[in-house]
Amino acid sequence: MQTRVDEIAAGIYRLSTYVSEIAPPAGFTFNQFLVLGDEPLLFHTGLRRMFPLVREAVARVVAPERLRYVAFGHYEADECGAMNEWLAVAPQAEVVHGHTGCLVSLNDMADRPPRALDDGAVIDLGGKRVRYLDTPHIPHGWDAGVLYEETTGTLLCGDLFTQLGDGPALTDGDVVGPAVAAEEMFRYSSLSPNMGATIRGLTRLQPKTLALMHGPSFAGDGAAALHALADDYDRRADTARATLNAA
Ligand SMILES: [Fe+2]
Ligand SMILES: [Fe+2]
Repeated sequence: MQTRVDEIAAGIYRLSTYVSEIAPPAGFTFNQFLVLGDEPLLFHTGLRRMFPLVREAVARVVAPERLRYVAFGHYEADECGAMNEWLAVAPQAEVVHGHTGCLVSLNDMADRPPRALDDGAVIDLGGKRVRYLDTPHIPHGWDAGVLYEETTGTLLCGDLFTQLGDGPALTDGDVVGPAVAAEEMFRYSSLSPNMGATIRGLTRLQPKTLALMHGPSFAGDGAAALHALADDYDRRADTARATLNAA
């Protein structure tokens, strides 16, 4: 396995590790995003067992000990398995997450106390500004949230738009169709009546780039892609409700 490093927006680097054994024959990628600034932030730590690979990839861009913030979408091994390894390597690093994640998992699991962020809170990284947004249960995890980097218009969308395969680092092609196909295959989302509305709420950001944790980054009309994804989840919720009512 090797980790590719690509700059997908100004000062935002995608570290991507392809694992052919997951969901063969297409395989699956695990991506972390390094947001450069005076105080660099890493979104997703990578799996604990991938830490040597990801650390080496970060080192190609910035000295790992300079990391100031460690953030992720929700508490799961691919999102934050190497959290404590990063805290050990970077003495100034702080885990930042929403209140739910801190109360439910991180106050106990993180080796240093995390910083709890209000919904909508902004962290100034010096040259970059990231806004934290709560998206509870979406696509899964009570503590789920996303980060939006305001200077580049990049939405770090975590597991939203998950797709299979090892595509390019950045595409302007369709990211909705492949996400619908992956949902059909994995059923990874906590389908709920408000899922479409929560995803549609992110369209007000009008993101120029969508940074997918599992898939290529997308450059283009992020709001249109979010609308289409929200519509698909509304359809799924309607179908599930109709099926239950008919039973
Ligand atoms: Fe996840
Ligand atoms: Fe994930």
